[in-house]
Amino acid sequence: MCGIYMTIQQTDVHAGEKVFAGLKKIEYRGYDSWGVVVLNKFGFTLKKRTGKLSKLGQMHFVEGKCALGHTRWATHGGVTKENAHPHLAKNKSFVLAQNGVVENFQELREQLLDWGYDFDSETDTEVIVGLLEFEMEQQKEQKLTSKIIRSVFRKLTGRNTIAILTQSGDSFAVRDGSPLIVGRSKDSAEIYFSSDVVSLSGDAVEYVVIQSGQMVEYVGKKLKITEVKSGKLVPFSFVPMSLDATVVDKEGYSSFMLKEIYEQAKVLSKVVVGKEKEFKAVAKTIKNAKTVFTLGAGTASYAAGHTAYILRKLGVPAVAIASYESDSFKQLCDEKSVCIVYSQSGETADTNEVVEWMKAKGAKIISAVNMPGSTLTQLSDFPFMLQVGPELAVASTKAFFGQMVWGMTVCELLSGSKFVEIKEIIYKFEQQLRVWFADILVQDKIRKLAESLVHKQHLFVLGRGDLYSSSLESALKLKEISYIHAEGFSGGELKHGVIALIEQGTPVLCLVAEDENKANMLNAISEINARGGFTIVIASKDNELYKEWIEVPELKFRGMSFMTLMSIVPSQLLTCYMAMKKGCDVDKPRNLAKSVTVK
Ligand code: M6R
Repeated sequence: MCGIYMTIQQTDVHAGEKVFAGLKKIEYRGYDSWGVVVLNKFGFTLKKRTGKLSKLGQMHFVEGKCALGHTRWATHGGVTKENAHPHLAKNKSFVLAQNGVVENFQELREQLLDWGYDFDSETDTEVIVGLLEFEMEQQKEQKLTSKIIRSVFRKLTGRNTIAILTQSGDSFAVRDGSPLIVGRSKDSAEIYFSSDVVSLSGDAVEYVVIQSGQMVEYVGKKLKITEVKSGKLVPFSFVPMSLDATVVDKEGYSSFMLKEIYEQAKVLSKVVVGKEKEFKAVAKTIKNAKTVFTLGAGTASYAAGHTAYILRKLGVPAVAIASYESDSFKQLCDEKSVCIVYSQSGETADTNEVVEWMKAKGAKIISAVNMPGSTLTQLSDFPFMLQVGPELAVASTKAFFGQMVWGMTVCELLSGSKFVEIKEIIYKFEQQLRVWFADILVQDKIRKLAESLVHKQHLFVLGRGDLYSSSLESALKLKEISYIHAEGFSGGELKHGVIALIEQGTPVLCLVAEDENKANMLNAISEINARGGFTIVIASKDNELYKEWIEVPELKFRGMSFMTLMSIVPSQLLTCYMAMKKGCDVDKPRNLAKSVTVK
């Protein structure tokens, strides 16, 4: 959701092209318009467009050593060229781009209108521009200063990260919420500001993550970080770009999503690498908690649901909360509570807001995040990096698997298994998944099924017990990418209403494990068959009741059932193949953003 990319070069005059290339790397965040502004001795030259920049191929910009670019995901005002960022100040002394929402935008806009400010766009961003200009006038300043930026920033409510480039080539950025990273090239001749680390690959060799509440300025070739509130200097040091953070290649796959699905067979073991002490500390904290909450949004909420389910089976009082439905849990949260938070990005506004009130109530926050330097990591008492590598497709796959494995590991430690045993079984699962991916017969069957399902309007996914969360996640994947109306249900819920929707040929994906729920799932399958439904069953063993059977291996280790993961992989593949068949953009589904940083 919205992205910033800015560079200041010492000698290269192709800053515009560099920023354009940088914006392409943050496209995955989701956007509907974009803009690039280049600064040279003649001033600023702006280029803005609606639509996707990846479709434009090579673009040329005027020569200049400084440029600021932005990808906009519309919140205030429609998808138009005028509303696209960056916005140029009326006095032409600076340009500004923003990620976030100015919540008191109406009040500030009215103030500016009273003062005679003439708006060119419908955005909340222009309110910041107007306030900065007004403040410059008040302070009789020709140049924008950090003091002015600080005082205006403090007037804004909501979470906002802004980047500013001035006419004299000074650059400023303030972070509140949405991420901000500063990178520099090997000889420090080039400086970059970006919304994520991954996009800096190829440009920067080291980076520093700017924390929420901090301002960074690059003035006269000097980089300074300060606290926005106090103006106090913040010491910092650059860290080298790690190899993992720089893998941004499709490596021969037709989409990042497909690549990330296949990566699940090799990155899950990384979740536990080098973390034994930390996992044990977390298990102990959970054991001593009065109430354990598990929290996440969308896909992450299903991982949260699954972790709470296995915790309860171990006798731990655990409740799963979907970030956007948290109000009723406020009274249950206190200093004896623990909250396990899942988030790929660590920037989901709905999730972070809950974490903030839980922290205020004294609860301990444990998080499993995939993006280094994210807001959620900062808010956590026990921050964990999932270490599954950058996830660039909008749909979450390997990060979700990482969260599930994280939860399963903690639960297994709680029930007394040794860390080394857990590690071994995760390796074993990866191995099994590799073998399954290599099975041409199964893979062909999934492709053919995708073809037969592509014109269906509705599809249902049933799972029970351990596989209930898996059914919800499978359905979400199918909706997001192939735009089929899919709903996940508990197998037990069928008779209580859903069965009314089953008619001749209605496809129903059924997730069946060799566990205590199998008999009930078989009943549900018979009932669907009896009404002409088309049952596609994902299971390790065949049964004459199944119209179609997708064979998957079923790995179990004490309380850990990898069927929860394995039963989802066919849906991940089905949705990709269906989307491809329909000609949809697998990596960037319509209307969705990778990280949902606004509420
Ligand atoms: O970055 P997060 O994991 O916090 O994001 C949460 C959801 O927005 C995310 O999982 C969303 O549901 C994805 N589109 C799922 O594929």
